[in-house]
Parts: sequence; C-alpha cells; structure tokens
Amino acid sequence: MAVRRLHPEQPASFEFTPENLSWAQAKIKDYPPGQQASAVIPLLWRAQEQHDGWLPEPAIRYVAEMLAMAYIRVYEVATFYTMFQLAPVGKIAHVQVCGTTPCMLRGSEDLISVCKRKIGKNPHELSADGNFSWEEVECLGSCANAPMVQIWKDTYEDLTPETFENVLQAFAAGNPPPPGSQSGRQASCPAGGPTVLHAYTGELPPQTVMPAVNSPTAAVAVAEIVADPTISDEFKPEGLDAPRDGKADDLKRISGVGPKLEETLHSLGIYHFDQVAAWTRETVAWVDNYLSFKGRIERENWIEQAKKLADES
Ligand code: FES
Repeated sequence: MAVRRLHPEQPASFEFTPENLSWAQAKIKDYPPGQQASAVIPLLWRAQEQHDGWLPEPAIRYVAEMLAMAYIRVYEVATFYTMFQLAPVGKIAHVQVCGTTPCMLRGSEDLISVCKRKIGKNPHELSADGNFSWEEVECLGSCANAPMVQIWKDTYEDLTPETFENVLQAFAAGNPPPPGSQSGRQASCPAGGPTVLHAYTGELPPQTVMPAVNSPTAAVAVAEIVADPTISDEFKPEGLDAPRDGKADDLKRISGVGPKLEETLHSLGIYHFDQVAAWTRETVAWVDNYLSFKGRIERENWIEQAKKLADES
C-alpha cells in the first residue's frame, strides 16, 4: 500500500454547492441523532465528486465541521480508503489497478505496463492532456474475475492488455464500455459455459457429483444415477390419485419438508409416510432431480424419517 498524503497544492476553501448541501443535510438525517458521524463516507464521496474527482484538504475540514467530528478522524478516513483521491486525477478517468495476489498472478503487472505506456510513467501522474491518471491499489473484491481495474465507481474485469487498452480508448472517445467482465462471460460464471446444473436440460455432465450425501458409497451411487442424463420416468415414484381414506399424512413432519415441498409431493401423488419409506435409490435420484434440491433427501435422511413416522402411525 502506497503512502497516502495530501497534495501539496490545495484550494483555499471548500463548500458544498447549494444542491449538494441540501443532499448532505438529508443524508445526515438518515442516521439516528448523535450518530451523524456515520455519514462521513457519503459526504466525503460527494465532496470528491464535486471537486473534479479528488478530495482537497479544505473539504475534509468542511465535512468534519459539518458532522461535528474531530478533524483527525475525518482525515484518517480520507487517507485510509483508496476510494478517496488526495491529489488531482484525470478528467476522464482515474484508473485503479488491483495489484493484489490473485490479480497479480493473472496479469495485473501487464495492465500496469499499459498504464505506464498510455497514461503516465508514475502512479498519480496526469497524462499529458490531463485526461487520465492511474494508481495501483489493493484488492477491490473482484478476485474471481482477475485481473481487473476500477474506474470511478465501475469495475472492468477479466482484462488482458489488449482489452484494457480498448477500455481506455472507449473512455477517451467519450463512450465508456459496459462495466464487468470484458471477456464475454456473464459475471463470474464459468468462462466456457455452465459445468453444473444441466439436469434441467438433460445435459448433466458425467463428472457431476451430488453434494452432501451422508455416506460415501451412497454419494457415489446416487451421483452415478443423477449423472446419467438418461434418468427416466421409469424411476418416478408410484403415486396415488388421492390420499388413502381421503386423509394424507402430514409430510411436513419429515425434517426438510415444508408446506411448499409438501404441495409438490402431493402433485406427484405422494401423500403418505410409507410411500416415502419405500423409495429406492433410483427413486430418490429421480425425486431429487425433480425437486431441484440436490442431495436434500439423502442429507435429511427422508427415508429413515418416513419409516419411523409410518411405524408410529
Ligand atoms: S485480488 Fe484483485 S480484485 Fe481481489
């Protein structure tokens, strides 16, 4: 982490515009009386936005007075969080490159080379036209999409030197790209498309293993069944058209079955404990698929529960 100091050149004073002042006064009221200090970060952020993207020392003092906080406490906040810029930044973009381990292992040093080449040799140095600046920061919380940069409030992820240059060019052209992954994947989904939860489409891959099954043998056996995309209605539990004697058992007594699941079981013609008690491994796999609760039946041991409840009734 770089040492963060106030810029040597500071404006003589700072005050909110009337619009920002009324916004700040309303923001302070979001907090209980006596807790107005909780508004320190939003107020500092608004001050930074008002002052061309960086926070001058008089703004820190102004916010401290407004919140009746000791100046040093607000100064500590402003100098601790890298979201606050303590020196002038590029008019179009200030680029924060994450250099923490996951991003570093995935190529953040190459992104920094782009910054040095395209923006300025040193962090916090303005580009020749004053439009860009950059710095290296610690983890920005998008490690699954490393390497990444943050520009203002948005993150640009899964970058390569080439796609990062494209992002910078798009900013320079006044047409910032949509934030998020720049590799085409959605959020942090697997880069090559889905690898699990194919059951709905009948494309379950053979390597799929059910989570949290009680015994390792059962886990393997059930996983094999579920992994079989040909799992068919042959294993569908035999259902009844209606509860016997017009009275269904209270299936909610099975731990893990709530009103919604009970309704679903009824729709399958399952009304009684002895029906569940009679399920085979194959039936469990079929119902598991049907309910989309992989492993729940095994994990909660519905069959044993149902046997006991059937014996009691
Ligand atoms: S390490 Fe870069 S976002 Fe977390």
